[in-house]
Amino acid sequence: MFDFTFYRGKKILITGHTGFKGSYMCEVLLKYGAKLYGYALDPPTDPSLFMLCGLQERMDSVQGDIRDLAHLKRVFEKVQPEIVIHMAAQPIVRESYQRPVETFETNVMGTVNLLECCRLTESVKSVVNVTTDKVYRNMEWSRGYVETDVLDGYDPYSNSKSCSELVTHSYIRSFFQGQRDIAVSTCRAGNVIGGGDFARDRIIPDCIRAMERGEEIIVRNPSSIRPYQHVLEPVCAYLMVAMEQHKDPLLADCYNVGPEDADCCTTGELVDIFCKKWNEKRVGEENRIAAWKNRSDQGPHEAGLLRLDCDKIKRTFGWMPRWNIEAALEEVVRFAKGKIEGRDILALLDDTIDSYLMLDEPGGVII
Ligand SMILES: NC(=O)c1ccc[n+]([C@@H]2O[C@H](COP(=O)([O-])OP(=O)(O)OC[C@H]3O[C@@H](n4cnc5c(N)ncnc54)[C@H](O)[C@@H]3O)[C@@H](O)[C@H]2O)c1
Repeated sequence: MFDFTFYRGKKILITGHTGFKGSYMCEVLLKYGAKLYGYALDPPTDPSLFMLCGLQERMDSVQGDIRDLAHLKRVFEKVQPEIVIHMAAQPIVRESYQRPVETFETNVMGTVNLLECCRLTESVKSVVNVTTDKVYRNMEWSRGYVETDVLDGYDPYSNSKSCSELVTHSYIRSFFQGQRDIAVSTCRAGNVIGGGDFARDRIIPDCIRAMERGEEIIVRNPSSIRPYQHVLEPVCAYLMVAMEQHKDPLLADCYNVGPEDADCCTTGELVDIFCKKWNEKRVGEENRIAAWKNRSDQGPHEAGLLRLDCDKIKRTFGWMPRWNIEAALEEVVRFAKGKIEGRDILALLDDTIDSYLMLDEPGGVII
């Protein structure tokens, strides 16, 4: 079981806290009594998990642009965080083809600004930069990428995250190693799924929207293989790395975070499992049977085959994914159906977190 009691009373600043992963992370940290600060633009979707769960009122949330160094500096000076998790980004591949300059500015200079503030703020002891599995030069290999593979993402999003990695390595070597007592890691996670994601151009939100409209699900690239995992897997892995490297700075490194090989599936297989779970749990008046069809839209280039080798994070921390793909989709469907039935979204989120962290089991009390 993760023991995040470490976070009680700790000042932690999260960039991108209004987003999908950010909302899950904030809720986990609130459960453990962290002093929580966030820096981000408004939630990227409407509706958003962030607003539906009232997170704005339950933490210290600053609206700001990661490209605005002066503003970010003022926030660091005021907050004096001890732990920083950097997630603010333009995270959608397709949008990066439409807005490459903004994507590079946000994802590359945003990282520079963030690390510069960490460099200038004495209180900062532990930093995790959240990048992606797409940072590697994609060779369409069947083996999983390891942390030493070449960083050279193809499209503007992926490449901006490769650059974010390189920026981080430069800051570590130039300023943090031996000069400041500060541990900095990067984490490269695969595609996440989970309840409460309302993003465009992501497969599970697309499935749920289709079901809500009573339509057939359209899948663009059913044969693409991706390391899909529940959002709580990387979110808790980031918190684990931030915590462990705070205790032992020598653990700071770059880590892949992904599912077991057996759970790396094609997008078509993912949607098959989604449909099976959806049809098993029909509620109320719902009469639509979940089904999907393949419709390639000649979109821009995206990798066909992408797997991660996660031995390093397993060996170093004893980390293991908790939910296989079936369990992850079970949760997604439970959440989506709960929302359709009008259940409180915060209660759905709390149930998911308690079940993942086993806080709903005997002895699973936090504080
Ligand atoms: N969702 C995935 O499948 C996935 C997979 C791997 C890595 N990631 C990475 O995880 C992180 C979080 O992703 P997410 O899915 O929660 O994305 P999201 O789109 O839901 O959230 C993005 C967050 O970044 C903020 N943001 C965007 N531009 C900003 C700017 N200029 N200044 C300040 N804040 C800004 C948004 O306001 C939001 O809070 C990102 O860094 C993303 O690249 C996501």
